[in-house]
Amino acid sequence: MRVLSVAAEIFPLIKTGGLADVAGALPAALAPKGVEMVSFVPGYPAVMAALSEARELYHFPDLAGGQAHLRAGKAKGLSVLVLDAPHLYGRPGNPYLGPDGKDWHDNGRRFGVFSEVAANIARGQYGDMKFDLLHAHDWQAALAPAYLRYRGGPKSLLTIHNIAFQGVFAPELFVTLNLPPHAYALDGVEYYGNVSFLKGGLASASALSTVSPTYAQEICTANYGMGMEGLLQSRKDSLSGIVNGIDDAIWNPATDAALKETYTAKTLDKRAANKRELERRFGLQPGDGIIHGIVSRLTWQKGLDIFASLIGDVVAAGARVAVVGTGEPGIEQAFRAAASRYAGRVGLVTAYDEQLSHLIQGGADTMLVPSRFEPCGLTQLYGLRYGCVPVVARVGGLADTIIDANDAGLAAGVATGLQFVPVDGLTLGATMARTHHLYAQPEIWRGLQQRGMATDVSWGRSAAAYAALYKSILSGK
Ligand code: ADP
Ligand code: GLC
Repeated sequence: MRVLSVAAEIFPLIKTGGLADVAGALPAALAPKGVEMVSFVPGYPAVMAALSEARELYHFPDLAGGQAHLRAGKAKGLSVLVLDAPHLYGRPGNPYLGPDGKDWHDNGRRFGVFSEVAANIARGQYGDMKFDLLHAHDWQAALAPAYLRYRGGPKSLLTIHNIAFQGVFAPELFVTLNLPPHAYALDGVEYYGNVSFLKGGLASASALSTVSPTYAQEICTANYGMGMEGLLQSRKDSLSGIVNGIDDAIWNPATDAALKETYTAKTLDKRAANKRELERRFGLQPGDGIIHGIVSRLTWQKGLDIFASLIGDVVAAGARVAVVGTGEPGIEQAFRAAASRYAGRVGLVTAYDEQLSHLIQGGADTMLVPSRFEPCGLTQLYGLRYGCVPVVARVGGLADTIIDANDAGLAAGVATGLQFVPVDGLTLGATMARTHHLYAQPEIWRGLQQRGMATDVSWGRSAAAYAALYKSILSGK
């Protein structure tokens, strides 16, 4: 089975979040299941620089106002098709934002073209490429299933990694999209008088999936559906939830080159060397007390404003905090203020730093993920693998992947972290106290770490679920 994967970011070429990790890991995870996956990506500078063995499949004399080339090749181990269109994608840095931190003004054009070319590749329009299925990820690729619906072509799957990002643009964009006029309608791309890429995909794809069973249920409700719940309810039979796996070659504490000292579940004491390095890198006073780790976008979704408002209590309880993240100015500022007020107790690096994210997993005691909503979440999965105990909100994929250390969970010997709900300051505060109480009992804590490390968070099961889903789509069941 040949599948064209369409995503606007893919690790290790370009990444702003978990979508890239998933798009980057799926091809290798699916290969043993008999799926040959080729990834279609925009030709950002980072992608063009990594491209090798390239051959040109097609030349566009004029694609949305400039020349472009469709190239096939390899990039850092991935088999890729690249849309080399410098006027659209030849901009370094974040794939969506300009240097001013705002969305590029022409994102509708950039990803509209990306989706259209994706659909045409799947339709066999360029060169000798043939595909059985198109698998689109998130709003940037979501129009591809819509083009297939209106033009004909293979079946499609749209995976929702985050329903909050819907690709909504002013209606004037529609005429540039080359969709038939009747696509601007309630069962097409029209969304409250605007164009929504995600809506168009949700209405058009042969099947829909999201990245955890709990999130699949949540997005059919008004509390989590962000306006798409009605449409999703009507397509409930075509919607499934498959939890993400992690790339366990990249995320392996036994071999991780970003760590000061590698370790296994049997040699957890070696984490101490990583803790010392963490203290050094984050300017924390040395000590054996608990260090809470955060690796995250600093946004409302992630609930980190709630944690920031509690940080005084956490520090007063003797804990330290290490944060690597960037995001909303208000939340960044709250952490900056905490880092200066509690110097030596709260350390902050406002950057995107892949190496530091590994060091936190390998040296901190907890991985804090107090999200208001979380489709799947990957940092808690890395936390499990690294013996960095996840402390998470009981929402979305966090609910599906962590087992709470309540009395029953501890007695049954199945707990792997701490969970809390509702997501508010009072409950998070109580959970921090509960965490400190458990940390003070080394045997219990070690049990949490070891069970987490023994949990299978690899792609195995989920890749099998995707392969089965692909088959059922193709057989029309
Ligand atoms: P989301 O995709 O919603 O941001 P996930 O938990 O699914 O959340 O994935 C986040 C990914 O981005 C993880 O691989 C995490 O390690 C990484 N990440 C987030 N912020 C940073 C940062 N500041 N530096 C390095 N890696 C980060
Ligand atoms: C999104 C979600 C996150 C998920 C990731 C990969 O960014 O916010 O929860 O893990 O996609 O599916």
